[in-house]
Amino acid sequence: MLTLWSGEFRGRDAVTATNTVLIINGPNLNMLGAREPEIYGTVTLPDIESMCQNHGKTLGFDVDFRQSNAESDLISWIQDIDIQVAGLIINAGAYTHTSIALLDALKTINRPIIEVHLSNVYSRETFRHRSYISPAATGTICGFGPYGYVMALDALADQLRSGEDTG
Ligand code: DQA
Repeated sequence: MLTLWSGEFRGRDAVTATNTVLIINGPNLNMLGAREPEIYGTVTLPDIESMCQNHGKTLGFDVDFRQSNAESDLISWIQDIDIQVAGLIINAGAYTHTSIALLDALKTINRPIIEVHLSNVYSRETFRHRSYISPAATGTICGFGPYGYVMALDALADQLRSGEDTG
């Protein structure tokens, strides 16, 4: 069980005393279930939120789960991250492959960031092979469907524990 994280992350200077994990979902992810089920399956975004809330609880996280089709919303949410958020999980959808603005926003935050994709973007069209946001991420999980979000929560818990150990 993760307890309150009060150490530094990777030697940087922010200190937090919260277990809130922000999970941001980008465009068209609200259409999961109906959207290209041969690629994304039939699980809906509310189903994924339930999985995250349940698994988050077992790790001691409060999960704040959001979705927007608007790039500006995603950027504003990232800009608003402060000491109230321990870490960020982001599936930026197609903005992953287009948005330097999202990369710039992510670079300003001082928290572990896990990039998630349901599909294996590297086995799909070449324009999906490039992620603009990966350089700002602690790590990326793709190709495991909704379970990728559970993996991301575990990875975040591990990152935050490492911060405690070394901070
Ligand atoms: C996605 C992959 C992106 O290429 C695509 O634009 C999405 C979903 C995924 O979760 O597999 O919207 O991020």
